[in-house]
Amino acid sequence: KRDASEFVPDSTELSRLREASRSCRGCDLYQDATQTVFGGGPKRAKVLMLGEQPGDREDREGEPFVGPAGKLLDRALVEAGIDRGEVYVTNAVKHFKFTRSERGKQRIHKKPSRGEIVACRPWLVAELNAVRPRLVVLLGATAASALMGPSFKVTEHRGTLVEAPEEFGGHPEQILSTVHPSSVLRAPDRDSAYAALVADLKAAPAML
Ligand code: URA
Ligand code: SF4
Repeated sequence: KRDASEFVPDSTELSRLREASRSCRGCDLYQDATQTVFGGGPKRAKVLMLGEQPGDREDREGEPFVGPAGKLLDRALVEAGIDRGEVYVTNAVKHFKFTRSERGKQRIHKKPSRGEIVACRPWLVAELNAVRPRLVVLLGATAASALMGPSFKVTEHRGTLVEAPEEFGGHPEQILSTVHPSSVLRAPDRDSAYAALVADLKAAPAML
């Protein structure tokens, strides 16, 4: 079955991985997107934050979490006492998936399928092996299913530190899950959704 593995070099060098990801054709999403959006941050970050997929802004700029969801996340990290300089940020799926609005002007985010999440996973595994974070923060259901499989429920675990499965070999040691910052932007009561996100993230500094 087709996936990213044949495009992922056997390397723990982030710069090599990032370069190689530019020509990934592990699923069909590269066809309509502008570019691959690889993760970014310090190469030995203690924390790896995992989102869903790049949005419209990320697709154009080539960097993760630079749009509205990223701004909100940056603010929440500060409030939770997590040093942005210790955080590597990436996405479960590295290409933007979208549909066009009726007039074709807007690109509307579409959820990646299970097949696309699985196809892109080799890049995430390579990033984990390169960064070797102590903690992975799962931002929403797509991130959770990419790392932990579809049975991991964010609603059950949010805000609590969970031991990572043995197969990760200690990188990460623990998993923290919470909602996706975009869901805060869409929430009817944004203030309380934001406060809940910050409260979840506050579990992180204790283990760092
Ligand atoms: N949402 C994500 O999940 N990732 C991004 O990079 C931007 C928005
Ligand atoms: Fe490759 Fe992932 Fe992009 Fe699919 S979404 S082409 S697997 S980088």
